[in-house]
Amino acid sequence: MSRIVILTGAGISAESGLGTFRDKDGLWTKYDLNEVATPEGFARNPQLVTDFYNARRANCLGAEPNAAHYALARLEAALPGEVLIVTQNVDDLHHRAGSKNVIQMHGALMSALCSACDHRWPAPAVMHLTDTCPACGHPRTRPDIVWFGEIPYHMEAIAEAVEACEIFAAIGTSGQVYPAAGLAAEARRNGADCVELNLEPSEISRVSQTRRYGPASEVVPDWVATLLG
Ligand code: APR
Repeated sequence: MSRIVILTGAGISAESGLGTFRDKDGLWTKYDLNEVATPEGFARNPQLVTDFYNARRANCLGAEPNAAHYALARLEAALPGEVLIVTQNVDDLHHRAGSKNVIQMHGALMSALCSACDHRWPAPAVMHLTDTCPACGHPRTRPDIVWFGEIPYHMEAIAEAVEACEIFAAIGTSGQVYPAAGLAAEARRNGADCVELNLEPSEISRVSQTRRYGPASEVVPDWVATLLG
């Protein structure tokens, strides 16, 4: 079981050029999340939702991991088997930085999902409403994203990891979306040292014994250097 569990959010990818959700220029100030990030929105206007995720996938393909992603990959390489990243991000920047033990609890832009048979496959750069499932041939395909109102992936494994960890760090997340937002408090109840690394204080601050504020590309490498002594 991993000694260090790290929850990441949009803030860790902000300096890679991928927008956050709730900051002043965040995605949810430009788009109505009910229209683009709910099963009901997809049922109403599947083209709008498909276009939204195609645009985000294009941004992601054009982005590179930053110093924060690389620092977490170094941490895992230095402490094999001891580090788990639980990310709310649907980008693939942790993987591209070299992290291996990563759970994408809100799904993945680079994955497509069949609503008919639950088969997953690598998403093409541009998804189309006419795409059919490679396993069952059904045309009910969608981005493999956990929308509001759906249950995040791998919650059992995440709960077990949070219960057993000694250090829980939340990086670049506003702590406003549950169940992810409740993980820090749960880790603290189970005796973990809680660390918050963020641009500014967030909902996670009050349960964190250690807090470091600044851009992720600076505070995360510093924190990793401290941990590795
Ligand atoms: N370095 C560190 N933190 C940053 C940076 C940066 N360069 N830029 C912004 N932040 C912080 C903000 O201060 C904020 O606390 O990142 C956080 C981003 O918060 P949100 O936009 O709410 O993103 P997140 O917490 O990941 O959202 C959770 O909400 O809409 C859903 O499914 C979506 O996974 C997402 C979930």
